[in-house]
Amino acid sequence: MIKYNNIVIKNTLLLVAFLTFSIGVSSTSFCKFNVKVKQTLKNEGFHRNITYGIVFDSEPDQRWIYKDCLVGLIQELPEGVFANPDELSDLNRNKKINAALKNPVNIELPAESSNANNVYLTGKVIDGKANLWLPVHARYHQAVAGGGVARNEIGPPTLFLHCPDERLEACGTNKPLSIFMCNGSSRENCKWKKVPYTMLTDTLIWNVPVGNTDHYYLVATATATVIVVGSLYLLKAIHEYKVNMRKKKL
Ligand SMILES: *[C@@H]1O[C@H](CO)[C@@H](O)[C@H](O)[C@H]1NC(C)=O
Ligand SMILES: *[C@@H]1O[C@H](CO)[C@@H](O)[C@H](O)[C@H]1NC(C)=O
Repeated sequence: MIKYNNIVIKNTLLLVAFLTFSIGVSSTSFCKFNVKVKQTLKNEGFHRNITYGIVFDSEPDQRWIYKDCLVGLIQELPEGVFANPDELSDLNRNKKINAALKNPVNIELPAESSNANNVYLTGKVIDGKANLWLPVHARYHQAVAGGGVARNEIGPPTLFLHCPDERLEACGTNKPLSIFMCNGSSRENCKWKKVPYTMLTDTLIWNVPVGNTDHYYLVATATATVIVVGSLYLLKAIHEYKVNMRKKKL
């Protein structure tokens, strides 16, 4: 009888342990992230503006997740596109945006000699929304025969959250946190949790005109012709003048 009771107790303990474990596992889906992002490329020409409209969950019982949090984006810029570090510094100082480059950039280089770079962009979540923007510039491409356009693709950013407490721990994703700047006005770094989102817009495509070397040959040939014809004409004029002078002297 005692032995039988022991087995029952053991099994009950096992069951309780199992149930506790199950509840623990199911709490990983406790935070139903429902984030939507619209990414657009504004303006025309070589200087443009990437904007991000981010909407966090609208369901009232999920709002607590985002309250007073910061949103962080890591945007990869392809080699044909850059953000100007001096411009970003000014915008940070004037509290217009919070942005920094991961790697230094040489803004003079043509696209062929450049590398892709990452930009960190952060902002506050206010009323379940955040609107961020980033000024970007196209690099010149080396001229090629036939000219044409160079296609730059700006993909979707990676999205992160940083909240004033440990609440995101409750969301249970145990992916390692990323560490990068909190905002543009402080050197301090924050721990950021990567958060999934739904992209509402297509990958940004930015076509940039490429110089045509054929035009250079045409221009060079035309210039040379003009110089040669002009010089011959001048020589002829000088020669005639001299001949006339000699005739007058005779
Ligand atoms: C970029 O777009 C945002 C949102 O429309 C705007 O607030 C910002 O001033 C624009 N920046 C530039 C440099 O055009
Ligand atoms: C920038 O981040 C630091 C570190 O978290 C914080 O102390 C400071 O208040 C922030 N500044 C602004 C303007 O948000």
